[in-house]
Order: sequence, then structure tokens, then C-alpha cells
Amino acid sequence: MGKKVTVVGAGFYGSTTAQRLAEYDVFDTVVITDIVEGKPAGLALDLNQSRAIEGFETKVVGVTTGPNGEGYESIEGSDVVVITAGLPRKPGMSRMDLLETNAKIVRQVAENVAKYAPNAVVIVVSNPLDEMTALAQLATQFPKNRVLGQAGMLDTARFSNFVAEALNVPVASVRTLTLGSHGDTMVPVPSKSTVNGKPLREAMPAEQIEELVVKTRNGGAEVVALLKTGSAYYAPSAAAARMAKAVAEDSGEVMPVCAWVDGEYGISGVYLGVEAEIGAEGVKRVVETDLDADERASLLEAAEAVRAKQGDISSM
Ligand code: LAC
Repeated sequence: MGKKVTVVGAGFYGSTTAQRLAEYDVFDTVVITDIVEGKPAGLALDLNQSRAIEGFETKVVGVTTGPNGEGYESIEGSDVVVITAGLPRKPGMSRMDLLETNAKIVRQVAENVAKYAPNAVVIVVSNPLDEMTALAQLATQFPKNRVLGQAGMLDTARFSNFVAEALNVPVASVRTLTLGSHGDTMVPVPSKSTVNGKPLREAMPAEQIEELVVKTRNGGAEVVALLKTGSAYYAPSAAAARMAKAVAEDSGEVMPVCAWVDGEYGISGVYLGVEAEIGAEGVKRVVETDLDADERASLLEAAEAVRAKQGDISSM
């Protein structure tokens, strides 16, 4: 049977995600929803009118949803639901400043997803990411492997881009990794980063790596400061769409994502940025990689920081 994906939220993040998913041409249907009257239908119409040029058969359907779940019947049968709903940051805000506002929005969306698409894999991208992912699992009561968050791929892509620019090499020759939280306790992993297969630590001095690590950690905030209205969406949507594709194709690709960790790295009972094998059931397996002692210590620190915050969300 043909695959169906839903993107909740028709802001820039949601609409660019829907566009990428449609252009992959691997889904029968891409549903995009929003609470704004007409906007998702307009975007869907526009995207469908690009089909003849871009050459994809996927049909895009845009639906406005109401406060009592009206419209959510359109997401029925979705294999994947990407939740982008919520407010983005304004200049100077941290992702954590969005916690209470976005918790209300994400909870309501997640409850409707549970009702209308009970078999879907849920990919959360709303901020603060690690907390909203944990909340979506609580609100849907889906098995933990079926709820995951997008952040590690984005942070990793930012790190790779900065390394490639600094060394003036093709980005394709750079491999990096970031784990931990999508926030202050992001854990870039230089020991697993390479340039043309050689360790990053041989390609640039430690101080320069640290500079790029800081730039990566602030990668989202730098975009927010420049845009002034809204946050990044090209790189974030690229990451979310690839995750949804991996689920639809049951590809088993290993990606850095926000996943439920239960024993790996000696960490248990928390949603955290780790590498995981992604397939039809969401997270097939968390992949534990060898870390340096200081990287491991940073990951443990990140786990405790997000655990404390994730504890707060059960009451939101
Ligand atoms: C960012 C937001 C989307 O990092 O979290 O750009």
C-alpha cells in the first residue's frame, strides 16, 4: 500500500518539510495541517502545481484543523507524522523559553495523532526538542521506539558545514557527529569526526575545533538573530524529511536522533541525542559508539540536564 506522511504545522519548517517529502516521490500522500484557515490548502495546491515541473506523483493535501480535533481524520493511516507545531524562537530567546507555550500545543497535537493515526511513527521537531519529544511520547502513549525527535542530524550537519568551510574542502569529505541535547548540553564528538577519512584532530588544532563546536551549538541562534522573525528551516527540514524517508523505506540507516535511551552508555530512562538505526518501527536500535572519556562525561551531563527538564513536562 502507498505510504502516507503527515506534517503538522504549515510554518516555514513544516512547509519546507512537506516540499522535500513530496519531491522525494516515495509517498502516495503528504498531508500538511495547520490551525490557520486556508494556509495548508493553499500550500498543498501550490505544491501540487509544481508536480509537472519537478516530476513527482505524490499528492499533497492541506487541511485546517480545529480546536476540538476537527480535520484530524485526514491524517488517518499515516505511516509517519512529523510534528512541527509550536512557536519558534525570537532573537535572544533560548529554546527552553518556549517550553510552556509549546508544551500545550504539542500535547494537543499528540493526543489527536494518537486518536487518528495510532500506528504512526512520530517525529518531533518542536522546541525545546528533547522535552517536546518526551511529551509527545507521554501524550500519545505510543511505544517509546515509535516517538523520536529531530536534532542530532541537524546539529551534525551544521558542524560538518563549519568544518568544511574552515578547511575549504567539500562538505562530502567531512563526517562529524553530535550527541546529547539540542541545546546547551549538545555534545559534539571530535573523536568520531573525520576529514577525508582522517581524524579531525589531525586536520585542525584543538582550539579551532572548539571554536567550531561553539559555532555549532549556537548555529540555530545565529540564524534566528539574522532572520529576526522565525528560526532556521532549510537545514532542519532536510534532517526531518530524511528521517521520515528512512521510516517509510524501512532503511535501517544510522542517524543521530533524539531517542529513548535505556541502558546504552550506562544511561537509562531519558530521551537523548544518540545514534540510532531508523526503520518502519521508528528506532530499531540505539547504536552505542566508543567515546573518549570527556565526551562520555559530557553525554552523561547532558542526560542528567534533560532528565531534570523532562521530569517537569509530565504536568504540562
Ligand atoms: C534550530 C531550531 C530549529 O536549531 O531548533 O534551528
